[in-house]
Amino acid sequence: MTMNATTRAKDVLNTALRPLNVQVVRGRSDDPAVRTFIPARSTIAAARRSGLSVGDYIDRTFAKPGTTQAAVEAMLRMADLHPPVERVCEIGPGSGRYLEKVAAALHPDVYEVYETAVDWLPHLGSFPNVVVQHADGRTLGETGSGSVDLVHAHKVFVYLEFWTTASYLNEMARVVRPGGTAAFDIVSEPCMDDATVSTWIQHGSIYRPVPRAWTIGYLERRGLTYVGSHSTFLGPGMSELLVFRR
Ligand SMILES: C[S@@+](CC[C@H](N)C(=O)[O-])C[C@H]1O[C@@H](n2cnc3c(N)ncnc32)[C@H](O)[C@@H]1O
Repeated sequence: MTMNATTRAKDVLNTALRPLNVQVVRGRSDDPAVRTFIPARSTIAAARRSGLSVGDYIDRTFAKPGTTQAAVEAMLRMADLHPPVERVCEIGPGSGRYLEKVAAALHPDVYEVYETAVDWLPHLGSFPNVVVQHADGRTLGETGSGSVDLVHAHKVFVYLEFWTTASYLNEMARVVRPGGTAAFDIVSEPCMDDATVSTWIQHGSIYRPVPRAWTIGYLERRGLTYVGSHSTFLGPGMSELLVFRR
């Protein structure tokens, strides 16, 4: 492709990505499992100007105020975990808007993060007890089997390629300890009402639906039990947060 064609293709793609606040930028990685996210520096600066925490600023600007808190409360209610816990692991924490609230509720000794957007790592590393692990985009290679109380991901599996999501599901099942919880949201059948699909058709969509029954069966074959779900905002519709226990 010529440079102009490349730039045009990038613009078209970025228009389609806008609802999820993801942008294609030059020079991070050629690996399709490694996606980029909203830029850290300008987002942190805008949050500071607004007087909100980065997480609350993102909720207000890109979702709805209170979305993150409601999801965290629902997840922890189903998880039945009590503070302090030893170890939490999060995939794709981005700005840390879930991290902030989960850490405040569970007071983990260690909070591991696997994040491919390297510009967010200094911000994530500034939270207490956070350990930034090497993110290869598909595994939790630095986390021991059966070692974590809670492994979770939000607004990540909604747009990753299916094989990457499946790889992370294997890993979540591997790292969660007996009695621990695995939780993540997907765009499942209940999120695919006709009005939402019609908006996707009109404006394009980067979401990659994942079948609900397949997901539950896949994890149950790996020793987890499905506990319940919570609908959470994902413009223009919803994603479904699924919660499992080992
Ligand atoms: C839409 S953002 C959601 C961020 C955050 N969880 C939230 O809800 O605000 C998706 C996040 O996943 C990260 N990500 C994308 N691909 C990934 C991968 N293969 N492994 C780990 N993180 C990934 C992105 O860099 C970004 O931080």
